[in-house]
Amino acid sequence: MAGDIADLRSDTLTRPTPAMRRAMAEAEVGDDAYGEDPTVKALEEAYAERVGKQAALFVPSGTMANQLALRVLASAGTTVIAGRGSHVAAFEAAAAGTNTPAQLFTIDDTAGTVDPAEVAWLVEAAEHHWARPSLVCVENTHMLAGGAPWPLDRLRSLAAIGLPVHADGARLFNAVVATGTSASAYAEPCTTVWTALTKGLCAPIGSVLAGPADVIDEARTERQRMGGQLRQAGVLAAAGLVALDHMVDRLADDHARAALLAEAVAERWPDAGLDPATVRTNMVIFAHPEPGALIDHLAAHGVLAGTVAPRTMRLVTHHDVDDAHVERARRALASAP
Ligand SMILES: Cc1ncc(COP(=O)(O)O)c(C=O)c1O
Repeated sequence: MAGDIADLRSDTLTRPTPAMRRAMAEAEVGDDAYGEDPTVKALEEAYAERVGKQAALFVPSGTMANQLALRVLASAGTTVIAGRGSHVAAFEAAAAGTNTPAQLFTIDDTAGTVDPAEVAWLVEAAEHHWARPSLVCVENTHMLAGGAPWPLDRLRSLAAIGLPVHADGARLFNAVVATGTSASAYAEPCTTVWTALTKGLCAPIGSVLAGPADVIDEARTERQRMGGQLRQAGVLAAAGLVALDHMVDRLADDHARAALLAEAVAERWPDAGLDPATVRTNMVIFAHPEPGALIDHLAAHGVLAGTVAPRTMRLVTHHDVDDAHVERARRALASAP
């Protein structure tokens, strides 16, 4: 509890819960490459059902889920439209450059969404010698935009353009809890969607990618090509099932705590441009001229924080951050130089 460090660097720092560890120890397993791991199958079916898709695939990481979607859905000699600050475009060690024969074409996503009109324009531009887009990637919630969830009607407008949509739903359930939009409603306009069982949901390893059965079959083969074929992975999938069944509703606590942190930031730096009303999930991102000095000050008060871009601070709430941690962080922010 809060005697220890308040670690606000990332929700990837969460550790598996005692219930997960028990489920892992007791998991029934088999060779997943033979299709014989019942716990992996149960997880894939549970996620597919949750997002209303035909099939799902357990993968070691979110990065692999994004890269598989590129390999399966994007075609050679086309563009993949993605937000400039999206994980698939700006992070992942530029993996898209080696994993797809298509070319990323990035557009503005400062507020967390891409503009359907801009995407429609790019589709139309293909009739005027521009490269033809074959896929759009969205991120829901959008990490760099402060954990912003997509409005469902905007996602529907985007899908109505007719391109396949791939959703990086690393934190899909944060969006679900923040907006009240169901996971299946969010997934419906998208061809593929995945969610991290790690991060706020606390499982130690793994994400699940869902979509039409033929797309997921192909993704399974691509996963093998990438060296991601799994064997007795039921020990990991067991934690994932606990994550889906028991860790979603509590994300509301993380969101409430992030709102308190956002208030403290806005009070201390009214000119930093952070409107607490825009903090709807578990991320507080704000501009600061000297992040290093602020990080040192917070650390001296038992609070760990990080950066996500030059002069851009990030505070993240998660399962292992409690009210006392948040109170400590608020006081440390108030006294920051
Ligand atoms: C929005 C988003 N997408 C993808 C990823 C990649 O997930 P992983 O670290 O499991 O590869 C992350 C990781 O933090 C993320 O925040």
